[in-house]
Amino acid sequence: MCKICEVVIVYLLCLVDQLNINLQGFLKCSHLILTVTAMRRLYVGGLSHTVTEKDLKDRFGKFGAVEDVELRTRKDPEGVPYKTFGYVNINISDADLKKCLTVLNKSKWKGGTLQIEIAKESFLETHRIWL
Ligand SMILES: *[C@@H]1O[C@H](CO)[C@@H](O)[C@H](O)[C@H]1NC(C)=O
Ligand SMILES: *[C@@H]1O[C@H](CO)[C@@H](O)[C@H](O)[C@H]1NC(C)=O
Repeated sequence: MCKICEVVIVYLLCLVDQLNINLQGFLKCSHLILTVTAMRRLYVGGLSHTVTEKDLKDRFGKFGAVEDVELRTRKDPEGVPYKTFGYVNINISDADLKKCLTVLNKSKWKGGTLQIEIAKESFLETHRIWL
């Protein structure tokens, strides 16, 4: 979903939440939602096959609380690794996620170039607590 749509929805959710609309309440509510820290699942491609789960955990742990990582290696029929990628489940605020992407996406690491994607999740799922 686009960023603007998200902001509009957050605004509407806040209005619903604050049926006795008062500006202070709205600002508090929107602040809470927009700076929410949530579990995110990040796909990390372009890993060198020498990278370990601990490396990945340490690398992303600078930006948030890494819950766990899954490392996958694809090998050709001779058993030679040709593709290594992983998933990082991390509890991270939107601001730190942005920072993390700025620093790590497309960065070179151990001979690979990281490609990070945010694995899809439902917006309503994340913000269910406010519905
Ligand atoms: C994520 O971090 C926030 C803020 O530190 C905390 O309140 C929340 O319980 C954490 N969520 C999970 C699923 O660990
Ligand atoms: C990471 O960089 C790639 C290549 O520029 C881009 O397509 C992708 O959207 C970026 N990932 C995120 C989560 O922004």
